[in-house]
Amino acid sequence: MIFGRVKPIDAILNATEGKTLHRTLGAFQLMLFGIGCVIGTGIFVLTAVGAQKAGPGLLLAFAIAGAICIVAALCYAEIAAMMPVAGSAYTYSYATVGEFLAWTVGWALILEYAVAASAVAVGWSGYFTGTILHQYFGVYLPVWLSAGPLALGGTAGGFINLPAVIISLLITWLLIIGTSESAKVNAVLVAIKVTALTAFVALTLTSSHFDMARFNPFLPAGYFGGFGSGIGAVGAAATIFFAYVGFDAVSTAAEETKNPQRNVPIGLIGSLLFCTVFYMLVAAGAIGTIGGQPVMGPNGVPFPAGSEELARQCATFAVDQLPLVCSNEALAHTLRMIGFSTIGNFMGVAAFLALPSVILVLIFGQTRIFFVMSRDGLLPEVLSRVHPKWKTPHIVTAITGVAVAFAAAFLPVGQLADIANAGTLYAFMMVGVALLVLRKTAKDRKRAFTVPAAWLVGPATIIGCIFLFLNLPAAAMLVLPIWGAVGLVIYFGYSRSRSHLGKGIVEVHTMDEPGLKPDIPGTD
Ligand code: ALA
Repeated sequence: MIFGRVKPIDAILNATEGKTLHRTLGAFQLMLFGIGCVIGTGIFVLTAVGAQKAGPGLLLAFAIAGAICIVAALCYAEIAAMMPVAGSAYTYSYATVGEFLAWTVGWALILEYAVAASAVAVGWSGYFTGTILHQYFGVYLPVWLSAGPLALGGTAGGFINLPAVIISLLITWLLIIGTSESAKVNAVLVAIKVTALTAFVALTLTSSHFDMARFNPFLPAGYFGGFGSGIGAVGAAATIFFAYVGFDAVSTAAEETKNPQRNVPIGLIGSLLFCTVFYMLVAAGAIGTIGGQPVMGPNGVPFPAGSEELARQCATFAVDQLPLVCSNEALAHTLRMIGFSTIGNFMGVAAFLALPSVILVLIFGQTRIFFVMSRDGLLPEVLSRVHPKWKTPHIVTAITGVAVAFAAAFLPVGQLADIANAGTLYAFMMVGVALLVLRKTAKDRKRAFTVPAAWLVGPATIIGCIFLFLNLPAAAMLVLPIWGAVGLVIYFGYSRSRSHLGKGIVEVHTMDEPGLKPDIPGTD
């Protein structure tokens, strides 16, 4: 019975009963935590990639991706309030659709967390080299040290993205020695990001450079560029979806939340609504002032984002003429172009300071998912070993960090984001499935938060995720089945026979594992 082995919800709930974890987080802190995880490379960097795919229709792309995330967040909210335990979509799937599918979700979450961390590291590298090294110190890092090789979709002359490697390893080290970002640090970083983006919106929307004519044509690449093409408004939505990734981390804090029934949904939906509106305003400001038309190929179709042809075209522009779609630091570049060089540089500093905390939360989330899977017997026990002094799962953290650094070294940000999105969309889709399954299998169980119109919201999540997935570039789409196939080999070759549940041991783990530091970064 391949779809058997469903973890009983009661076991999950029992494990959370009588828990001593201090419930300290309120709705506002959860929103801060959510915004801290969510605002990152997506808006600071991928705005340029999104504009190359959709032109001014990027605004629509943000709205589409935001709407799909909001319905997914509703599903998360209901389940997280019911099962406030570690493991996120993996655990929810284990309790609803069984171990096999839960394994595929856990496996896909590696793409969501680890690959997304690589993407954010590469995005950070663009601001570090552009603003910190170049603008402030007048240092040009050679291309071969600041970008991945062309053969992998990077830049001509690129070899390794050294700053991205260094930041990934540095953060891994901080996590290994048990540094957990405090709620105060998170609040300061959120304030920096929000202030920088607010200043951006205010300066651009009121600028004399702002011209509605720049929104015309609104959809130069059309609404729909064709499945797998990765262009048009929905192609851009599939990429820019990355800007919302991370909100599900809020559900992992459910255990530490006061009145989670009320506060988890508010935290999830509140942070997403806030980000959606903000992102649309930022995109409007950038496009309205310096334009956001794609660089078109000879056939009237935008050059693929991250392609060699696009890089070649971009190289023909002088720096002060560079279109939005060619910039590695889209927002700082926009401000510099409209006469706010100093504030543009501050924008770069804000990204430089704040993006590492997004990397930290993502690597942290990854290690905790591996940790839970290992405690379930599906991954080697060594991964859940906790360091005696630092109280962290040091082995799995080190392995994750090296993998994150490796991907960040060689792949460009757009490709990494698309791959991360493929895995995330699968996990979100399964949360939509889990919501519907629970409505059938646990009909009478008391729900602290009930999704209104679940039979619309659940299918909307499932269909929305499949739709965005099909609009990813074909190469990113392909990664999921290939990655999934590797996962299946491991599941049937290793995990299935070692599964604790398979051996009749029902155990559920929460974040207050004996010996494991429970702190979720940015919440304590
Ligand atoms: N949403 C996060 C970002 O944009 C992952 O960086």
